[in-house]
Amino acid sequence: MRTSKQFYTKLTAKGLKQRKTALHTASELKYIKKLLNKRQHILDLACGYGRFTIPLARQGYSIEGMDITPSLVKDAKAAAKREHLDIHFRIGDMRRLPYAKDSFDAIICTWNAFSELYKEADQLKAVNEMLRVLKKGGFAFIEMRYARVVPKIHTNKSVGDEAVRSGKRITTGKTAGIGSMPQYVHNKSTIRRIMGKAGSRRYIAVIENFGGRERFLLRFWK
Ligand SMILES: C[S@@+](CC[C@H](N)C(=O)[O-])C[C@H]1O[C@@H](n2cnc3c(N)ncnc32)[C@H](O)[C@@H]1O
Repeated sequence: MRTSKQFYTKLTAKGLKQRKTALHTASELKYIKKLLNKRQHILDLACGYGRFTIPLARQGYSIEGMDITPSLVKDAKAAAKREHLDIHFRIGDMRRLPYAKDSFDAIICTWNAFSELYKEADQLKAVNEMLRVLKKGGFAFIEMRYARVVPKIHTNKSVGDEAVRSGKRITTGKTAGIGSMPQYVHNKSTIRRIMGKAGSRRYIAVIENFGGRERFLLRFWK
C-alpha cells in the first residue's frame, strides 16, 4: 500500500488544492481562529501546502508548519516567500516530531491527516509526541472524518493486521470519484481507548459542523 508521502507526492499540491473549495477553507479557518489567539505559539501539524499556516501567519498568528511530504512543504515555503512571510516549515513525521519538549501552546492537525495513521500504535505515538511538544496547559485540535457507519471497509490485509484486528475501521474514501488515502474512522469509543493509553486526563471529542460538514473534532490538553 502507498504511504501518505507517496500518495501526496503523486497528487501534488495542485491536486490537493483542487479537493477543497475556497468557501470550505474560509469557513474552517473561521472555526479554527475561535480556538487560537495571537499570543500562542502554534504548530500546524501535517500542514500540507500551508492551507492554514499561511493565512494564519498573514493575520499575525505565530505559527510553524510541519509535514511528511517534501514537495508539499516546498510549495508551502514558496507560497510564504511570495508573501514575505517568515514561517518556519519543516519536513517531519508526526510519530516522531522534530521539536523539543514544551515548544507549542497549540497544535492544529486538520483534514484527516491524523486518520491516515491507520494503526492504533502509530496514533498513540503521535498523541504522545503532541503531548511532549506542547507546553503545560497547551492543547491539540484534531479534525477527522466522521461516519455514522464506516462506509467501505478494507478487509485487505495490506492495510495492516493490527488495523484489521482493531475492528475494521479503515475506509478508502472517494472525493469526486478520486481515491484518497485509507483512513481510520474513529468514534468516541476508539478515541477513549487512545486517550486512555496516552494518559490524557482532559479531552473533548465532538461531532460538529466544521466547514459545512459533520466532522469528528478532538481536543486534548497537556
Ligand atoms: C489531506 S492533507 C491535509 C493538509 C492540511 N492539514 C490541510 O488541512 O490542508 C493530509 C496531510 O497529512 C500529511 N501526513 C500524512 N501522514 C503524516 C505523518 N505521519 N506525519 C506528518 N504529516 C503527515 C500528508 O503529507 C498531507 O499533507
